[in-house]
Amino acid sequence: MQRFAWLGLVWLVVAGALWTAPAMAQTAFAPRDESPEDFVAGAGRNETFYACTACHGFRLVAQQGMTRAQWEDSINLMVRRHGMPPLDEKDRDTVLNYLEAAYPPRAPAGRGGWVNPFAK
Ligand code: HEC
Repeated sequence: MQRFAWLGLVWLVVAGALWTAPAMAQTAFAPRDESPEDFVAGAGRNETFYACTACHGFRLVAQQGMTRAQWEDSINLMVRRHGMPPLDEKDRDTVLNYLEAAYPPRAPAGRGGWVNPFAK
């Protein structure tokens, strides 16, 4: 039986790892730490947030400023190149309406920079 004493040690290590894993998961950074409320308010924010955060943080989206046509291209690219499931027409409209209103092209540099359209 002595020969199997190491099993007890293995068990301790495994149990210890299982015990501390949840605590570590809470402190480690993950894109999931973002929530829709962190971003510009507007109709369709939740739908857009959840449609776009399956693969990357929403910050990646929010740091862009584009026209509706460019946002459309961007979504097409996600579908074509990155395997995003295509949105049906209604969802696509909801998402585009939000992105167009919340993240328009930035004002040219030197003229006060980007203006939040919801802060007016
Ligand atoms: C199926 C996975 C997936 C989904 C869903 C997805 N993306 Fe992406 N997206 C990617 C990948 C992969 C990249 C490139 C890698 C990276 O930068 O993380 C990317 C990059 C981007 C970029 C940066 C492009 C650049 O030129 O740097 C933008 C903007 C973007 N996505 C917008 C969106 C928007 C808007 C949505 C929701 C409508 C969305 N993505 C949903 C996979 C996805």
